[in-house]
Amino acid sequence: MKPQIPWWQRPGIRISGGLVLLILLGGAVTGIYFTQIPPEQPIPFPHNFHVGVGADCTYCHTGAATGPSAGLPSTNKCWGCHEQIEPRNDNLKLVASYGSEGKPIPWVPVAIMPEFVMFNHRPHVTAGVTCETCHGDVAKMTTAEPQNGMNMGWCLDCHKKSSTPEDFVRLSDCATCHY
Ligand code: HEC
Ligand code: HEC
Ligand code: HEC
Ligand code: HEC
Ligand code: HEC
Repeated sequence: MKPQIPWWQRPGIRISGGLVLLILLGGAVTGIYFTQIPPEQPIPFPHNFHVGVGADCTYCHTGAATGPSAGLPSTNKCWGCHEQIEPRNDNLKLVASYGSEGKPIPWVPVAIMPEFVMFNHRPHVTAGVTCETCHGDVAKMTTAEPQNGMNMGWCLDCHKKSSTPEDFVRLSDCATCHY
C-alpha cells in the first residue's frame, strides 16, 4: 500500500496555498497602506505648522461649529498671511502663485461620505465631540490623512454609547442619516 500524504502536504497544494496566503497578506498590507496615505494635494499644506503657531481648526474650517459642512479656507484666507511672507522655497512659491492671482486651490477631498448619507457637523461639535475623535490627530499631520472605518457601524456605535435609549431611537432612525 502507498503511504498516504495528507492533501495539504502535497507539493502542488503547498505552493499554491503559500501563494494564496502571500496574495491575501499583500492585499491586506497594501490595503492599509493605501487607505491611510493622504492623497497628493496641489500644495503640501502643513497642518502641524499652522496649528502649532496658533491657528484654530475652526479659523480655517469655519462651518464645523455652525453648519453641516466644515468647509475649506479660501485662497484669500491663505493670502491674508502669505502676502507678507517671503516665498523663499518651492512650497511658499506655490502659495504665492495661487494667492497673487486669487485662484482657487483644487484640494482633493479626504473625509467624504457617499451622497446618500446626511452628516452634519454642528450637533457633534455642539455636543462636545472633538475633531480628533473623528479625523485623527490632524494637528500632527501635514495634509489631512484619511481615517479607516468611518462607516455606518462607526456612526451607530458612537450614537449608542453617547445617548440615552430614548434618544437612540432617533439617532438610529434610518431617516436621521439617509435622505
Ligand atoms: C495665520 C496666518 C497663516 C495662514 C492663514 C496661512 N498660513 Fe501658511 N504659513 C504661515 C507662516 C507664518 C508660515 C511660515 C513661513 C516661513 O517659514 O517663513 C507658513 C508656511 C506655509 C507653508 C510652507 C511650508 C514649508 O514647506 O516651508 C505652506 C505650504 C503654507 N504655509 C500654506 C498655506 C496655505 C495653503 C494656506 C491657506 C489654506 C495657509 N498657508 C494659510 C502663516 C499662515
Ligand atoms: C462625529 C465625527 C466628526 C467630528 C466630531 C468632526 N467631523 Fe469633520 N467630518 C466628519 C465626516 C463624517 C465628514 C464627511 C462628511 C461628508 O462627506 O458629508 C467630515 C468632513 C470634514 C471636512 C471636509 C468636508 C466638509 O465638511 O467641508 C472637514 C474640513 C472637516 N470635516 C473638519 C472638521 C473639523 C475642523 C472638526 C472639529 C471642529 C470636525 N470636522 C469634527 C466627521 C466629523
Ligand atoms: C490655516 C488653515 C487650516 C487650519 C488651521 C486647519 N486646517 Fe484642516 N485643512 C486646511 C486645508 C488647506 C485643507 C486641504 C488640504 C488637506 O487635505 O490637508 C484641510 C483639510 C482638512 C481635512 C480634510 C478635508 C477634506 O476635504 O476632506 C480635515 C478633516 C481637516 N483639515 C481637519 C482639521 C483639523 C481637525 C484642524 C485643527 C486641528 C485643522 N484642520 C486646521 C486648512 C486648515
Ligand atoms: C464619536 C461619536 C459620534 C460619531 C462617530 C458620530 N456621531 Fe452623530 N452624533 C453624536 C452625538 C453626541 C450627537 C448629538 C446627539 C443629540 O443631540 O442628542 C450626534 C448627532 C447626530 C445627528 C443629529 C441627529 C438629530 O436629529 O439631532 C446626525 C444626523 C448624526 N449624528 C449623524 C452621524 C453620522 C452620519 C455619523 C457617521 C458618519 C455620525 N453621526 C457619527 C455622536 C457621534
Ligand atoms: C447614524 C447614521 C446612520 C443611520 C442611523 C443609518 N445609517 Fe445607513 N449608512 C450610514 C453611513 C455613514 C453609510 C455609508 C458608509 C457605509 O457604507 O457604511 C451608510 C450606508 C448604508 C447603506 C449602503 C451600504 C453599502 O454597503 O453601500 C445602506 C443600504 C444603509 N446605510 C441602510 C440603512 C438603513 C436601512 C438604516 C436604518 C435601519 C440605516 N442605514 C441607518 C449611516 C447611517
